[in-house]
Amino acid sequence: MPDPYIRTALPDDDEELTVLDRVTWSYLHAVMPEPQPPYDPFFSRRHAPEDTLVAELDRRIVGYIRLGLPTPLASNAHVRQIQGLAVHDDARGRGVGRALLRAALEEARRRGARRVTLRVLGHNTPARALYESEGFAVEGVLPEEFCLDGTYVDDVFMGRPV
Ligand SMILES: CC(C)(COP(=O)(O)OP(=O)(O)OC[C@H]1O[C@@H](n2cnc3c(N)ncnc32)[C@H](O)[C@@H]1OP(=O)(O)O)[C@@H](O)C(=O)NCCC(=O)NCCS
Repeated sequence: MPDPYIRTALPDDDEELTVLDRVTWSYLHAVMPEPQPPYDPFFSRRHAPEDTLVAELDRRIVGYIRLGLPTPLASNAHVRQIQGLAVHDDARGRGVGRALLRAALEEARRRGARRVTLRVLGHNTPARALYESEGFAVEGVLPEEFCLDGTYVDDVFMGRPV
């Protein structure tokens, strides 16, 4: 199995990433309703290409991870937050998610961060297992924070030093 090639996203990746986001949508990880046309672009002022890493297999984008700032405050600038991670269904279980997460941690380190945090839904067992295996610990839980398709779901806050 070839290793995924991880690189910084480019503006031209927008369309491929919009499709990837759409086809991977599920209440397992999403708190927004399923996207409907006309679809929003993947990149925005808040989420720029340079803050996104993509994973390629056979020159096809099969996953992405987005690294952002939790707030715009200078006093909070030593923290980076993972604000999106998804791997195409047909590429899962091959180490792509782990490679993206490790690359994001390396990028956070390169940018001088002291800590990386994230939020994950309580019922998202695959993502929670991945984060825990890469050194993230649960630092807080907001019980029943979201009501998704009629079910109340916890929001789990996780973090680790970089
Ligand atoms: C979570 C996700 C990114 C994992 O991507 P992936 O490429 O399949 O993950 P990897 O192959 O790198 O697996 C890494 C680890 O994740 C965990 N994992 C992955 N799939 C799992 C599953 N179905 N059940 C339990 N654990 C799982 C395991 O700990 C695995 O390590 P192992 O292979 O040594 O057992 C992917 O399932 C996904 O895109 N899910 C939908 C989007 C999402 O939930 N994003 C997270 C939002 S917070």
